[in-house]
Formats: sequence, C-alpha cells, structure tokens
Amino acid sequence: MSEFESLLGSYQKRINQTLEGLLPSDDSILSEAMRYSVLNGGKRLRPILVYLSSELGEASHDSIDTLAGSIELIHCYSLIHDDLPSMDDDDLRRGNPTTHKKYDEATAILAGDALQPLAFELISNLDTSDSNKITIVNCLANACGYSGMVGGQIKDIHSKEINTVQDLDIMHSQKTGRLIQASLETSGILSELDQKDIEALNKYGEKIGLAFQIQDDIIDIESPSSISGKDQGSDINQNKITYPSIVGLEESRTRARELASEAKEILHLSHKNADNLHKLADYIVQRKT
Ligand code: IPE
Ligand code: IPE
Ligand code: MG
Ligand code: MG
Ligand code: MG
Repeated sequence: MSEFESLLGSYQKRINQTLEGLLPSDDSILSEAMRYSVLNGGKRLRPILVYLSSELGEASHDSIDTLAGSIELIHCYSLIHDDLPSMDDDDLRRGNPTTHKKYDEATAILAGDALQPLAFELISNLDTSDSNKITIVNCLANACGYSGMVGGQIKDIHSKEINTVQDLDIMHSQKTGRLIQASLETSGILSELDQKDIEALNKYGEKIGLAFQIQDDIIDIESPSSISGKDQGSDINQNKITYPSIVGLEESRTRARELASEAKEILHLSHKNADNLHKLADYIVQRKT
C-alpha cells in the first residue's frame, strides 16, 4: 500500500468514527435508516477533501471533523434520493441494498430529508466565528440546491434534452461538482486560508468535480457490481445521457485525465500538502469504485 493510500485509509477511519457520533442513535426506525445509509462504507471523498485542504491552514481538529461529517451527511442524503424508484431506481449502493430496498420508499425519503438539515444544524454549532458560519452555510446551501446538486439532478432526470458536451458539463458540474468544490471551499474558510488559496482550491475543485462524474459514468459501464458496489449498467438501463454515451469511452477517459492535469496545474499552493491534492486528482480518474 502506498503512503497516499494509507493516508486515505486513516482519513476514512477518522470520518467513520466522527459520523458514528454525529448521527442519532435511539432505537427509532428513522435513526436506524439514517445510520444504515451513512455508516455503510463509501470512499468518503468529500470528507477527505475537507481534511486535505484543512491541512493547508489552521482549524481546530473538532470543527474540521464536524464540517467533514456534515458534508458526508448531505452526500449520503443525495445518494438515498438518487437511488429511489422515481430517480435512478437502483437496488445496490456501497455493496448493500439501497435504503428504499432495505426499508421502504417513505422511510428512505424521510431518512434523506432528516440527514440534510442535521448537516446544517451541526454547521450552525461549529466552533468558529459567526461570519465564517454564515459563509459556510451559504456556500453549502448554494452547492446543494437550485443551481447546484438538485439543479443538476433535475437535468439528469430530463437528460434526453441534453445533446452537447457543454450542456453535459453543466449538468455534471452541478449534480456532482458543486458539492466537491464546496468541500474544498468551506474547509478553506474554516481553516482561515487566504482568499487566493481558497480561489485556487475552488478552481481545482471545478476540474476534479467534473472529472469525478466522468469517471463515475465510466465506472457504470466498466466496473462489475462486486467492485463498484452499485448496479452495473444503471445508466444504460435508464437511457441516461452520460459522457460515454455522447463522446464514447475513449474520449471520456482522455477528458477525465486532462481535467486532472489541469487541476494539478491550478494548484501550485506553496505548501507541502498540495502534493496530496495532486495525488487525489490522479486517484479520482484512476479509481474503479
Ligand atoms: C457517487 O458518489 C455519486 C456521485 C456523486 C457520482 P461516490 O462515488 O463518492 O460514492 P461513495 O460515497 O464513495 O459511495
Ligand atoms: C449522482 O449521479 C449524483 C448525485 C447527486 C447523487 P449518479 O446517479 O451517476 O450516481 P451513482 O452512479 O448512482 O452513484
Ligand atoms: Mg443519478
Ligand atoms: Mg444514480
Ligand atoms: Mg453514476
């Protein structure tokens, strides 16, 4: 295992412990479904981005953990809803039955509905200035909502209307890129980074966010469920417009790699940890899961 892989492993351990403590733990069905949907593995990429960018500056360990956990809760809510019969209608997530398969549709919808405000509640209690808290809430709310993730998801649901690479880039950047970008940006804010470093993280995030969804589209075709933990061929079954469906697999791979190198060029922060963010850009376009 490379040094970078063991770093990712240690961050995964750290976020899993954090999430364990952030989630409700009574014996209600809602708490059970929320825990089922969050404490089920996953790469924890967004928390890892929070951790890596926090190491460029200074923030308390606990507040960074809470931010990383909150963003993962939002991501998990988006996965529960993404898998619903009325959305992508998928049965497998992170190698386990999707939340609506394990429980039922209403419970899955409500577990997602409860995860999102929990994230904002946790952020409102972060140990940082009120001004930082407002900026973080604003950034995340924007990344999740109308012009961000949900805006991208509705384009995906009506993706038959998309037929140019430019429109596809917008959809991918909204549904997936914006939350990835916000993980970097909000961590930069909490870590009191300079504005120019936050801007660099943001531009890097724009590139890796798009690259991440292109690779996700490739994984849907190429990775068996035993590796991806998701239903293989879901996009094709649902007639989704994806990168490979518009430009083909080879060109999708090339574009993802180009975006990763552009991301690395943007991020020449004069700090040793920028090196890990470079490695992460490569990991994003090489991953099979
Ligand atoms: C899957 O996200 C959904 C997308 C936004 C592409 P991830 O590939 O990060 O899923 P997990 O969290 O590792 O399961
Ligand atoms: C999902 O994109 C993006 C989200 C906002 C959850 P996909 O529908 O391609 O994600 P997977 O492949 O189901 O993980
Ligand atoms: Mg989807
Ligand atoms: Mg999906
Ligand atoms: Mg996908």
